[in-house]
Amino acid sequence: MKTIIEPFRIKTVEPIKMTTPEERQGLIERVGFNLFKLPAEDVIIDLLTDSGTSAMSAAQWGALMQGDESYAGARSWYRFERAVKEIFGFEHVIPTHQGRAAERILFSVLVRPGHVVPSNTHFDTTRANIEFAGGRAVDLPAPEAADPASRAPFKGDMDVRALEALIAEVGPERIPVIMLTVTNNSGGGQPVSMANIKAVSRIARTHGIPFYIDACRFAENAWFIKQREPGYADKTPREIAREMFSYADGATMSAKKDAFANIGGFLVTNDGDLAAQERDLLILTEGFPTYGGLAGRDLEAIAVGLDEVLEEDYLNYRIVSTAYVANKLDEAGVPVMLPAGGHAVYLDARRFLPHVPPLAYPGQALSVELYVEGGVRGVEIGTVMFGKDPHTGEEKPAHWDLVRLAIPRRVYTQSHMDYVVEAVAQVYERREEIGGMRIVREPRFLRHFSAEFAWA
Ligand code: F0G
Repeated sequence: MKTIIEPFRIKTVEPIKMTTPEERQGLIERVGFNLFKLPAEDVIIDLLTDSGTSAMSAAQWGALMQGDESYAGARSWYRFERAVKEIFGFEHVIPTHQGRAAERILFSVLVRPGHVVPSNTHFDTTRANIEFAGGRAVDLPAPEAADPASRAPFKGDMDVRALEALIAEVGPERIPVIMLTVTNNSGGGQPVSMANIKAVSRIARTHGIPFYIDACRFAENAWFIKQREPGYADKTPREIAREMFSYADGATMSAKKDAFANIGGFLVTNDGDLAAQERDLLILTEGFPTYGGLAGRDLEAIAVGLDEVLEEDYLNYRIVSTAYVANKLDEAGVPVMLPAGGHAVYLDARRFLPHVPPLAYPGQALSVELYVEGGVRGVEIGTVMFGKDPHTGEEKPAHWDLVRLAIPRRVYTQSHMDYVVEAVAQVYERREEIGGMRIVREPRFLRHFSAEFAWA
């Protein structure tokens, strides 16, 4: 069969409230044109994030009822720890309420003022946590990542030459950790090859620098390796995932992505001294080391989710259905990042709105218009999110201006996605009427969450 179907049936449904373009015009104006400030009820198709928005399976809902809520040493903790160790392979597992809590704990222990932390591309919370600890977060994406139209298979790779140059420039003693984000969310959801993971690991080990994987979408990355990298076609996603982690010294994970959980995360390492310091911080803000910031039932849902996400039928459906949206948009002439990433489709706002300069935020303008057009909520990943240095206040265009349409796992059907394609194509038809935006109010850190905008 050529048609790849959703490999699940639907048992519970949530109604969607329909609105008109006129209503949405008023709704978005009222929140200063910031899509984060919209009530979710006023959104028809919510592609703001794939984080915490997954539909849980019957097995996960069943496991919730088995949650052991004991404060210390709960049965659910052991089940969670076993599931994590089985895939990630690290000795110490530290549960946290979500990914950024793992980042904050890791960087609080490792990063000091003057330190530099390289990555293929840091996610915004990762960057902010490094900067908050006084460090400098440096993105070293592979050169092909800069070209949204390049069809290279592993556009999420790190530029290893740039990494070596950075180490030579600042000295290994000022680099407390090297990160690699799989898949590369802020770089278009593009995968990282096993060859690149190995190369980064080798460089890190040569210089005695710990190497960590930001593992949020590890299963999607493993599937891309299976499909695209020579030598992996016959390996299971689980085997590939284990190999990926075998080259690292640790990982941070948000279970809100590739664990189908609505909340949760963890931090893993083989370094016992480091783990002890991290557990001390964990107790201070997250909780006792056998639950972190989580309820026993959350630990159960994550343990089941980690297993389900590695199923081949699921991963095939997931990656094919994301590519379906990107390819349809491409056929309609809409500039999108190709090949499609794992969890999201990225519209290239600079090519979509070539008459809007980066400092007039083409990604923001496009995401607002897409909401007005079809009630579809995406998110700007560009100059609003990354253009301003919080320490110097200097503003410049980001590497790119994208609008991310992140696809929640197991939530929307193909007809929902056809509706999204139609809405984007309609905005594209009237693109010449769309102008730029300016910021009227913004905070110092993570400004995209709460800034307010007006048309320029
Ligand atoms: N790392 C990456 C690559 C992420 O994509 C995220 C979250 C985090 C870390 C932080 O995890 O949200 O559990 O604290 N990304 C979400 C997104 C928010 O929409 O891409 P968290």
